[in-house]
Amino acid sequence: MIHAPVDVGLRSWELADADELAVMYGAAATELAVEEPWCGPDFLTAAGQRERVRRCLADEAAEGFVITVSGAIAGHLSLDRIRRDILQSADIGYWVAPRHRRHGIVTRAIGLAVAHAFDGLGLDRIHATTDLDNAASCRALEANGFQRVGVIHDFALVGDRWRDGQLYQLTADDWRSFSRGSAAGPGRRGTGGV
Ligand SMILES: CC(C)(COP(=O)(O)OP(=O)(O)OC[C@H]1O[C@@H](n2cnc3c(N)ncnc32)[C@H](O)[C@@H]1OP(=O)(O)O)[C@@H](O)C(=O)NCCC(=O)NCCS
Repeated sequence: MIHAPVDVGLRSWELADADELAVMYGAAATELAVEEPWCGPDFLTAAGQRERVRRCLADEAAEGFVITVSGAIAGHLSLDRIRRDILQSADIGYWVAPRHRRHGIVTRAIGLAVAHAFDGLGLDRIHATTDLDNAASCRALEANGFQRVGVIHDFALVGDRWRDGQLYQLTADDWRSFSRGSAAGPGRRGTGGV
């Protein structure tokens, strides 16, 4: 699919984003209750979001970002479990508000985050884990050069059911080779960030 150009940005989140984050998640409360039940009711409040951002800012092993569209918050992206030991790795996670989906937003945001992780933070590997049936997430990862490593059984407990996950990875070397070969690819669209 060819996406219309969308002005996607990625910036570190701030305590001042809490109100806008709460409104965004509030609009998706029904989906979040099913798909991310661990969030709890506080997640939908500005106070809960302030606490979430505050915890993340205090965590040296995590970086939290808001994904923006024309400056307004349209989702979040995180680099978690940032390891500065022999692994030099991080996990990536993301969420886009339902009304902004299918516009190529996360594809672009992942591209910006990956560039930051490798060129900015100097990491060597990024991991992502998706549900087996999360086609959008898989396509966005693959559009940025991630490769599927395999299946992790009983990866996540959602509600009362364990879900399998697919593990993806991208190394700095593979990303640089991939970027050279896809300078106009989906992960390169948008205007900028981090
Ligand atoms: C997964 C998610 C982040 C995708 O965000 P998005 O901004 O809509 O994704 P994009 O528009 O960049 O689409 C990525 C690709 O998936 C495709 N796609 C999007 N939604 C899809 C869907 N529901 N079914 C199948 N394919 C889909 C797009 O067409 C695109 O492929 P293309 O570039 O070949 O056209 C978003 O749906 C979301 O936040 N879901 C809930 C949270 C979640 O699943 N997070 C990921 C956890 S690993």
